[in-house]
Amino acid sequence: MNTKIIIAIDGHASCGKSTLARQMANMLGYTYVDSGAMYRAVTLYFLENGIDYRNKGQMVSALKNINISFRYNEKTEMPETLLNGQVVEKEIRSMKISEMVSPVSAIKEVREFLVEQQKQMGKHKGLTMDGRDIGTVVFPDAELKIFLTSNEKIRAERRFIELHKKGIDATLEEVIHNLESRDYEDSHRITSPLYKAGDAIELDNTNLSEEQQLEFALNLVKEKISEIEKGDN
Ligand code: DC
Repeated sequence: MNTKIIIAIDGHASCGKSTLARQMANMLGYTYVDSGAMYRAVTLYFLENGIDYRNKGQMVSALKNINISFRYNEKTEMPETLLNGQVVEKEIRSMKISEMVSPVSAIKEVREFLVEQQKQMGKHKGLTMDGRDIGTVVFPDAELKIFLTSNEKIRAERRFIELHKKGIDATLEEVIHNLESRDYEDSHRITSPLYKAGDAIELDNTNLSEEQQLEFALNLVKEKISEIEKGDN
């Protein structure tokens, strides 16, 4: 498949978007970008540097000092996020950051700052990106858009297990509360709220294994690319 496309994956918190986007990128030889990690890294910077994100002047000038990048960790075989050159993969997943990230990501200037960088990453196509506004704002022309959904209880349990595997402390109740409040805030904010793009394909993975979900999504890619190559699009 020589034709490279942009694959946008959106959905609520913890419904498996990152796993799907990362596995698709591996299979297709694409670049994978976890846009949520970028919002988490900005939040971490604000927290560590005592930036009051409600103070617009202070917040906007702080953004100029933030550099976010990604690299592949050969040992864990996972991508990791760097904030100003430091690996912050574990720090950005903490409950403290999960609690602060929704209000920070609702700020227009923060979104403009990150969306611009995200658009640049898609310049050469061959990209999977997951988040909340990827198919609606970052890549409204993405060739393939997937809107992932999953049963709430299952999402909370998956997140709880994932956090514990990473050595991050949290009770199941805390995880449930955090998912509910983030979903509400992310869907009700004024700038770029989470919603399903009209041309996105909804995929409910409640009863699917990771392998089944990946197979389904890769078939969508195949169909899309063959449509493009036949000139149907
Ligand atoms: O994908 P995640 O759960 O790690 O994302 C953390 C938060 O970042 C999420 O609650 C809302 C915000 N976010 C966003 O506003 N837009 C995106 N494209 C990705 C994440």
